Amino acid sequence: MSKAGALDLASGLGGKIDKSDVLSAVDKYEKYHVCYGGEEEERKSNYTDMVNKYYDLVTSFYEYGWGESFHFAPRWKGESLKESIKRHEHFLALQLGLKPGQKVLDVGCGIGGPLREIARFSSTSVTGLNNNEYQITRGKALNRVAGVDKTCGFVKADFMKMPFPDNSFDAIYAIEATCHAPDAVGCYKEIYRVLKPGQCFAAYEWCMTDVFDPNNQEHKKIKAEIELGNGLPDIRLTHQCLEAVKKAGFEVVWEKDLAVDSPLPWYLPLDKSHFSLSSFRLTAIGRFITKNMVLGLEKVGLAPQGSQRVQAFLEKAAEGLVAGGQKEIFTAMYFFLARKPHSDSE
Ligand SMILES: C[S@@+](CC[C@H](N)C(=O)[O-])C[C@H]1O[C@@H](n2cnc3c(N)ncnc32)[C@H](O)[C@@H]1O
Repeated sequence: MSKAGALDLASGLGGKIDKSDVLSAVDKYEKYHVCYGGEEEERKSNYTDMVNKYYDLVTSFYEYGWGESFHFAPRWKGESLKESIKRHEHFLALQLGLKPGQKVLDVGCGIGGPLREIARFSSTSVTGLNNNEYQITRGKALNRVAGVDKTCGFVKADFMKMPFPDNSFDAIYAIEATCHAPDAVGCYKEIYRVLKPGQCFAAYEWCMTDVFDPNNQEHKKIKAEIELGNGLPDIRLTHQCLEAVKKAGFEVVWEKDLAVDSPLPWYLPLDKSHFSLSSFRLTAIGRFITKNMVLGLEKVGLAPQGSQRVQAFLEKAAEGLVAGGQKEIFTAMYFFLARKPHSDSE
């Protein structure tokens, strides 16, 4: 079961950051971003610090609001958010053609929600790679509860420098994670290196679409809000992402922005005009309650100083994601399936 109560939210807030340092961590984190005068180059050269601060600060909010899987999903009418998230994970497993007993790598695995689901769905052994220590601690505890701790595990490392030998894995996937990479080609090259020849890599990427106009002030503001609210150094265009996959050496089997055909929009859970009992904490009223609860918890000292500021930049993220989705300038659903050729000549 996920850590879901208000006190869990408060106690996990800040992750591995000392509680007395949370406020200054929020300050430093915000200063990396355009909304607070930050520069892209600085975010890229300090990506480890920026991304780790972000996940230390937000993971307990994510768990409280989303559960164990930290990603969006295309959704059918009548399908709950939870069902759509699981289906999106099963889809990835099917695309990769996972077979029982295979060794799979989950790049940027969060607290392991997708890892546990995919391992149980496909009877594979999944290793979660993550550079955030707090998330790994949570993931290990949840793996024990789910009973997959004998076959699945975690490795703490940067996906730009993976501690695995060449040709180690039968399949690799990344769900809304490699968008944190300061250099997409470098990241995909590492994935290529550790994947066995002839095998596949599949990803869901966060991207700006071709509708995005870099000279439009409103578009730029939305992009900056998404970067701030989600710990991103930059957001690549879908075609830049695809070029990077090819440059890393992969052959692309197929690719598509899955947002285009989704009967319900992926950003619906965060849309303030939408109400849902099953994902109540993500709705406008749910977020209003959380905001006041965090205010109270911070006042009485149960949540560290700075907690409300984290809630505030997550609120900005939600607004940016909904606006980006509605204007179709941003997608959280860019999918590709790519294969590592058998040899360089093939
Ligand atoms: C949006 S979360 C998605 C987590 C997970 N894939 C899921 O869907 O639940 C992005 C994840 O990527 C991880 N990450 C970001 N940059 C990383 C890096 N350089 N090396 C390893 N993991 C990284 C974060 O710590 C986080 O766990």
